[in-house]
Formats: sequence, structure tokens, C-alpha cells
Amino acid sequence: MSVVQMMKTEPSVDETKVTKEEDFQPTFLDLTGVSIEFPTKKGAFKALDNVNLKIAKGEFISIIGHSGCGKSTVLNIVAGLYKATTGGVILNGKEVDEPGPDRAVVFQNHSLLPWLTCYQNVEIAVKAIFKKKKTKREMKEWIEHNLHLVHMDHAMHKYPAEISGGMKQRVGIARALAMEPTVLLMDEPFGALDALTRAHLQDSVMEIQSDLNNTVIMITHDVDEAVLLSDKIVMMTNGPAASVGEILKVELERPRNRLELANDPQYNKYRAEVLKFLYERQRRPQE
Ligand SMILES: Nc1ncnc2c1ncn2[C@@H]1O[C@H](COP(=O)(O)OP(=O)(O)OP(=O)(O)O)[C@@H](O)[C@H]1O
Ligand SMILES: [Mg+2]
Repeated sequence: MSVVQMMKTEPSVDETKVTKEEDFQPTFLDLTGVSIEFPTKKGAFKALDNVNLKIAKGEFISIIGHSGCGKSTVLNIVAGLYKATTGGVILNGKEVDEPGPDRAVVFQNHSLLPWLTCYQNVEIAVKAIFKKKKTKREMKEWIEHNLHLVHMDHAMHKYPAEISGGMKQRVGIARALAMEPTVLLMDEPFGALDALTRAHLQDSVMEIQSDLNNTVIMITHDVDEAVLLSDKIVMMTNGPAASVGEILKVELERPRNRLELANDPQYNKYRAEVLKFLYERQRRPQE
């Protein structure tokens, strides 16, 4: 079996590289023929064209692609915030047509309620989900536990205006994790963080995901992050009318250790494969 296994959604699929066991994993989250047009002053703008993606339960998927290609739009459609113009999303046998507590979103631009403290921002989500399942004390412990995971214990009673952008992003991650979502949708969650905090949070997310087996879709611009965290890397073509270009299956054993992987030839092959897609096959004219 080749190290790098590519699956293309185009008809020109290279059968020898398609992983066969893939076919036996039941689909949990299914995007079929998703296209979207946004109305603009100059007429309809087709951002996505025929996006197809089958995701199994517990899979960690990264979406990578150049700025503006449509990554956030895909995530917003799965979140139920945008409606596809054609095609649709099925989650666990049910069509997604609105947001729901089974899908927690960490937005690209942190989205805390400014009139609530960090603690209260997490609390509002926890109360909505666990009101009947946890006692007041359990809820308090759960909120503090999740804020602790992202190293925000010291500032949990501050307001969003009193903390940095990276700290706001961390509270957003804590809020999403605290919801124990079936599907965790993260739009460049670690982009605004310093390298050390980012590494720490990546490790936490990997641990939590392996404990809870949630299905994760994460958008990233960071090739190392994509390879380290993902089971599959979905590489999008450039927009307009962007689609799935290639899907790279990352078959590195878990748990993964970033230091050990740094010199791992297989890890570096995956990394090179993503870089080649971005900077050769999807190179933009201005580059
Ligand atoms: N509500 C909207 N109305 C009109 N056009 C939109 C809307 N949302 C997104 N677009 C357009 O759709 C395209 C894809 O946008 P999207 O935000 O999904 O890109 P992205 O891949 O997430 O980019 P980045 O990496 O910069 O975050 C862009 O050309 C954008 O201008
Ligand atoms: Mg985006």
C-alpha cells in the first residue's frame, strides 16, 4: 500500500491509490453535491460548486485551501448557518437545515458575548445543554474544567474586552468543548495563538477527541497542524466555484507525538503532498 493515498472526487480517480477499507466505514456526515451562490450587486456569486464529502463517526477532518476559496462557507453549511443552493448535508441520517447543539462551532473570529464574562460565556452553552443532566455544582466544575483545559482559569471572570484575541479564541474553544458536541466545527481555531499555546491546545483537542470520539472538521492554513491532527486532509481548489480537489488520508498511529513525528519520513511525505497541492497544483497566478 502506498504511503500517500489520494482519493479524488473527479472522475479521473486513480483506483490504485484509493483506500479500500474506506468503503466499509459507514458515513456519519454526508455532504452531497453542495453548491452555493451568494447574491451580490454584480449578480450571483458561486462560491462552492459540487462539494462532496463523506465523513465517518469519530473522524478528524482538516480542510485546507487558499484564502477565500470557500472553507468557512463549507463549515457554515454543515453548522446549519448557511443553506446550500443545491445539494445538502445529512448528519446521522437527518438533513441539516438549522444550527443545533449537536454541532458546536469555534468561529474564525472569536464570537464571545461581550456583556458576559469568560465564565458566563461558557456557562450559557453548558446550561443550555446540561440543564437537566448536571447539578449546579457539577455544571460549575465542568465550566471550570474546560476553562482550565485552555489555560484560562486565571482570567475566567474577566470580560472579553479585557483579554487578548488569543485568549478570546481559547474561551471560544472551551465553550465548544464544554458542549460535548457530536460534531465539532472549528474555523482556524489556533491561528491567533502563540506557538506554545497552540501546541498545547492541539494536544488537548487530540486527547479530548480520542476520549469522546467526536467527529471534527477543522479549517487550517497550517500544513503541520493538518497532518498532525487529521485522519484526512481535504484540499480545496481555488474559488470561485471551489470544490474538493484531493483528499489525503493520514495513516499515522495515534497518539501522535509532534517531536517524534518531526523526523518521521512518512509524516514528511504527507506534509510535502499538501504543500505540493497548495503551491504547485493550486498555485494562484499572483504567486
Ligand atoms: N455572505 C456572503 N456573501 C457574498 N459572498 C460571500 C459571503 N460569504 C462568503 N462569500 C465569498 O465566498 C468566497 C469564500 O469565502 P469563505 O469565507 O468561505 O473563504 P475561506 O476559504 O474561509 O477564506 P479564508 O481562508 O480567508 O478564511 C469568498 O470569495 C467570499 O468573498
Ligand atoms: Mg475562512
